Amino acid sequence: MQMIERPRRLRSTPGLRKMVRETRVDASSLIYPMFVTDGIGRIEEIKALPGQNRYTVDMTDGKIEDLLKAGVGSIMLFGIPEHKDELGTQAYAEDGIIQRAVSHIKERYPEMYVITDVCMCEYTSHGHCGMLHECGGHYDVDNDSTLELLQKVAVSQVKAGSDMVAPSDMMDGRVRAIREALDAEGFSSTPLMSYAVKYASSFYGPFREAAGSAPTFGDRKSYQMDFHNRREGIKEALLDVEEGADIVMVKPAMSYLDMIREVRDAVNVPVAAYSVSGEYAMVKAAAANGWIDEASIICEMAVGAFRAGAQIYETYFAEELAGYIKEGRIG
Ligand code: PBG
Repeated sequence: MQMIERPRRLRSTPGLRKMVRETRVDASSLIYPMFVTDGIGRIEEIKALPGQNRYTVDMTDGKIEDLLKAGVGSIMLFGIPEHKDELGTQAYAEDGIIQRAVSHIKERYPEMYVITDVCMCEYTSHGHCGMLHECGGHYDVDNDSTLELLQKVAVSQVKAGSDMVAPSDMMDGRVRAIREALDAEGFSSTPLMSYAVKYASSFYGPFREAAGSAPTFGDRKSYQMDFHNRREGIKEALLDVEEGADIVMVKPAMSYLDMIREVRDAVNVPVAAYSVSGEYAMVKAAAANGWIDEASIICEMAVGAFRAGAQIYETYFAEELAGYIKEGRIG
């Protein structure tokens, strides 16, 4: 058979396949999301996220050491306070759970890069991502009064030692508001990673169980994005870059690979993808049943996000992935 092009030529040996590989992955691109909670001496398993735990501050050391040993140098912290209230005051309390966790970790492990999630939903009694106000006979999240709280949250986290803030609330104008507040406090070199393209997604289900942050009424559709929309995602990403975001994130990852590519082509800042709790839970459940090979699936999902255009990948599988990279399963 006469053929000029034979793509299989470049697939004939492992060495050659690796030589022509288009996507390279490195553990330095990984972020591990980690839950910290009030109290002492406890590591609580999260049922919907088998293998993931909530740590009291004093119990975080072991996990941080494991991550560093594996080659994962960045974490994103989520705080789960004992007391929630209408105004989410524990989100910006000087001795709040996040503030204590950040200073504990940075003091012991200054080499661990600590990013903090800036949002209200883990701290409000109603579970919404901001302040409620009544409009037309029902309650909704009030955009502009929420911005003031987010500013306080971000400033208090950075004062406690946070290396980078990551607002995930989806209020309009929050990137500029937070940037201004940080600059005014002298934190102009602290980077801001915006959850710019964050969809209202059922893939966050297990996270909400982990954080006890499911809204007590309604849903998040008046602030998180409608998953039918592509162009709106580009608009959100461009807006956040204009407002000063240093990195923009697309979330979730697996069902939104088109958006990772769209955003990557539209902006000139690094793009992050967050493989969220529901993605993790699905892999764990299928693997536990013996229906899929967990390690191969984790690798394929990660490379998919990088191939789509992500430079940063946040995942509950960060430690495992770092191991697979070391072993040369992917790389
Ligand atoms: C806070 C926040 C959420 C997630 C990250 N930050 C929950 C939500 O928006 O309901 C979800 C992460 C995950 O599912 O792993 N707003």
